[in-house]
Amino acid sequence: MRILLTGANGYIGRRLKYALIAQENITLRLMVRHQGSLSDLAKQKCEIIEADVLQPESLDEALRDVDVAYYLIHGLAHENFRELDRRSARNFLDACIRQNVKTIIYLGGLGDKKTGSEHLLSRIETGEILSSRPEKIRCIWFRAGVIIGSGSASFEIIRNLVQKLPVMVTPKCITSLVTPIGVDDVIAYLVAAMDLKTDKNLMVDLGEEAMSYGNLMLRTASAMGLKRYLIPINVLTPKISSYWVALFTPVPYSVASALIEGLGSEVTVTNDLRHAYFSIRPHTLEEAVHRALEEIESNQVMSRWSDSGAGAWEIDHGYDVADALFVDRRTIELGSVPPAKVYRSFCSVGGENGWFGYDWLWNIRGFIDKLFKGAGINRGRRDPQAVRIGDSVDFWKVVDVVESERLLLFAQMKLPGKAWLEFKIHDGKLIQSAYFYPEGVWGRVYWYLLIPIHALIFTNMARSIMERAREG
Ligand SMILES: NC(=O)c1ccc[n+]([C@@H]2O[C@H](COP(=O)([O-])OP(=O)(O)OC[C@H]3O[C@@H](n4cnc5c(N)ncnc54)[C@H](OP(=O)(O)O)[C@@H]3O)[C@@H](O)[C@H]2O)c1
Repeated sequence: MRILLTGANGYIGRRLKYALIAQENITLRLMVRHQGSLSDLAKQKCEIIEADVLQPESLDEALRDVDVAYYLIHGLAHENFRELDRRSARNFLDACIRQNVKTIIYLGGLGDKKTGSEHLLSRIETGEILSSRPEKIRCIWFRAGVIIGSGSASFEIIRNLVQKLPVMVTPKCITSLVTPIGVDDVIAYLVAAMDLKTDKNLMVDLGEEAMSYGNLMLRTASAMGLKRYLIPINVLTPKISSYWVALFTPVPYSVASALIEGLGSEVTVTNDLRHAYFSIRPHTLEEAVHRALEEIESNQVMSRWSDSGAGAWEIDHGYDVADALFVDRRTIELGSVPPAKVYRSFCSVGGENGWFGYDWLWNIRGFIDKLFKGAGINRGRRDPQAVRIGDSVDFWKVVDVVESERLLLFAQMKLPGKAWLEFKIHDGKLIQSAYFYPEGVWGRVYWYLLIPIHALIFTNMARSIMERAREG
């Protein structure tokens, strides 16, 4: 059986990829937009194909000789995501039919059309499109509500809020019901679905125990050993709540508002086909929370909500960096410091390790970014030392890593232009370059205004990278 996994670098896709690699008797093909973002293990064990679901001509090759295709794509990062998601699903369904694929397995969200948020409606529409040609191809459509797992956006919001705020004012709608499920259970259902003996469409709702969002927060806090208090009030509009969540948690305004908008609707299971077709015993909420915390504490977070490209792969970084109008470059001789140590030093940038000094300036920039609905500085890093292409490092995204040579970060903060930060070892020197490609007059003004601050932070950064390399 040949399996195609789309969204293989997304939050669910990365975890499913490793679960599928462990399966015997299947050939796994990964469909990604940027193959540099795949690990060596994935490259060794899987067929890899670069394709974009919005470019239908790229899909036929991806789906050739495929029996089962997992559809884990969505484009929440774009403003018109609902329209793009519909187009994506249609393109994918048509290409699957052309290539005689037998089954599509899709994971969407729980909830109903009458009360659903824009985000949820897009997930429902995608499921409807993928299930719309049962005479040609069957679709197994899973629906999950809040997913509890390390790195999941909803779990990170809950974890950060209950960790930071002993008493919380909340919107009234936290009384709506939700059926949470652990991420490992979701992966188990997705894997089991490829062997399902049925030739008709199925919609399978996931999760066992329904509870209010308020209770979900309190039980999560309690599983973390914390006693917390919630005060629901009427005046908290979705907009204020989204700003609140964006400021206190790692998610940006766009993700916070999509999730807050969803609080108004009940996301509970409506069928028990999961019992009829699968023999999986899902974990309790507390078990899933403990598992997530263990992964976080032992730096074993396999995927994070911010792992997918989110706009970063639509840019040709090689070409655009070379084309940048403004460059701030600092060069330091390595002298007797081994290049490997310098590489390790600059690869540890960001997250809890900080930005090699002047962290308070970076934090102010992060705060301003959050106010302008940007990514903000508190996304942190997946691992304190290791970096892989696609990782988010605070408000940057890793777009290139060359072992012992180069780290290239692309700015995902709100900016009047495009910016990169590059660390390179070349010719016995550390070369640190900040590149900026301004948009319009305001982009140029922005760069000139920041020259004094850049002089401070970037000079210090290059020096501190060398100091840490010498010490470490
Ligand atoms: N995460 C949750 O908590 C959760 C909860 C309930 C349901 N779900 C459902 O699970 C599914 C997967 O969610 P997720 O959280 O894993 O999503 P995600 O992390 O945002 O990943 C989305 C994936 O879609 C890919 N993608 C976007 N546009 C594409 C395009 N034009 N062509 C090809 N690939 C494209 C991205 O690829 P790049 O890496 O190249 O950007 C990325 O790998 C969704 O349907 C979601 O509704 C998720």
